[in-house]
Amino acid sequence: MTNELPLQIDNTLKQGLQSQLFSEIRRLLLGGYLRPGTALPATRELASRLGVSRNTVLLAYERLIAEGYLETRPAIGTFVSEHLPESALYLERETPPIATQASSPVAHTAPIFHGIPHAVYNQDGDRLSIDFKVGRPDPRSFPVNRWRQLLNRHLQLARDNLTEYHDPVGIRPLRQAIADHLGPARGITVDPGQVLVVAGCQEALNIIARLFVQPGTPVVTECPGYQGAVNLFESYGAAVLPVSVDREGLVTEDLPLEGARLAYLTPSHQYPLGHTLSLQRRLELLEWAQRHGVYLVEDDYDSDFRHHGAPLTALKGLDRADSVIYLGTFSKSIGAALRMGYMVLPEALVEPARTVKTLLNNGQPWLDQAVLAEFIASGGFANHLRRIRRLYLQRRDCLIAALERHFGQVKLSGLEGGMHLAWRLPSGAPSARVLEAALRQQGVGIYSLPSGAAFCSGHDSLVRRTLMLGYAALTESQIEQGIERVAAILMHRHEAQGTTAGTS
Ligand SMILES: Cc1ncc(COP(=O)(O)O)c(C=O)c1O
Repeated sequence: MTNELPLQIDNTLKQGLQSQLFSEIRRLLLGGYLRPGTALPATRELASRLGVSRNTVLLAYERLIAEGYLETRPAIGTFVSEHLPESALYLERETPPIATQASSPVAHTAPIFHGIPHAVYNQDGDRLSIDFKVGRPDPRSFPVNRWRQLLNRHLQLARDNLTEYHDPVGIRPLRQAIADHLGPARGITVDPGQVLVVAGCQEALNIIARLFVQPGTPVVTECPGYQGAVNLFESYGAAVLPVSVDREGLVTEDLPLEGARLAYLTPSHQYPLGHTLSLQRRLELLEWAQRHGVYLVEDDYDSDFRHHGAPLTALKGLDRADSVIYLGTFSKSIGAALRMGYMVLPEALVEPARTVKTLLNNGQPWLDQAVLAEFIASGGFANHLRRIRRLYLQRRDCLIAALERHFGQVKLSGLEGGMHLAWRLPSGAPSARVLEAALRQQGVGIYSLPSGAAFCSGHDSLVRRTLMLGYAALTESQIEQGIERVAAILMHRHEAQGTTAGTS
């Protein structure tokens, strides 16, 4: 038991006590001060020592439990999880324990930044023979030949393009190609001047946070939602306001009546559960944003893949009041390693965003932009999308069929589009985390919500019962073998339980 946690809580800060306590405990955990299995102080005791309400401690513990950092053992107490979320595992190895830092002879200036990375970098992916990692395109479908041709051509014609600085918001041909693509693809009519080329959605979120977020700024996010966005906003000190989601996406009825400055959401394929925001809710959301002067951040990360029905027009396409900041990425449609995405900005934000992008990095690499621009403008991107859409649909169907073959009627969400689905585990199955750990030992990657970069504060039962399965990067035979191994583990556990019950 750790009674003397060196927690630094300051009630003069704008950041709420609960959020501070959450970050502090997570800091100790990631720094190696709290090891897996360590018992945490009882909530009443910790509350009294810190001079905060017991509820504050309870809520901070609940969130740490939901995100997989802590676990409860009924009637015993709260402990550091034996199986930490993936993001914690690799941070732990990289950050020296606090004890080592303290004994270091030179005390350098401590960083004031407190941010937590989200689990997108699949650090032990090489050890998995079958990996249902979420949101990965098929590596074998990368358009290598066309890319090589375009690279060679642009290198030959480059002249001073490789030695000069370019417009930080992106080269004109790429902004034009993106604007031309968005009309037919997403119902967004946009002038290329409103397009800003960025290093993926993650940089776009940084630009937005730089423009709007300071300690205490209220930011609405979906819950469950995307950890990459929540962690980013929290790293700027935002007070995150989680709003629940259901089958129609974000529950607009639960939106705060006042105070919000920004709202971040994934309307096309809600992350992580995969629901599509209904048209009615889209309209209500736009009306709410306009009434309260809130900017909506529409993260359209995997909307290139719509398996059923016509795609709903993007929020941005319905936006008459310039309330929507639209984010697109090529991470899903071509490859995450390109680090290429874009924002479509309301008029009023074009210049402020240009300034932030200039201060950040003076723009994206010219060669990558030139190649991508021609890839889109020459029709290569449309062909590539047509090809991989077909492939991903087949893989999705193969996954559904494999799940049904082994488990009968399965509760799935997110089937209409995207590259992953969420599976509500059958009752009696071990928790998602236990399954994830067991399968990992056999070289199969399946993902509980926290390991799949999902933010799920206060959703313990959803976390216990939900698995995320990405299918786009796996062959049909890998999908079948992977689900067969999931079934074997479940069957084995079921039999072991039956044996125990029979002998007791
Ligand atoms: C919800 C969501 N948004 C955006 C991204 C993509 O981010 P980026 O464009 O920075 O690669 C991801 C990737 O996993 C995601 O899950």
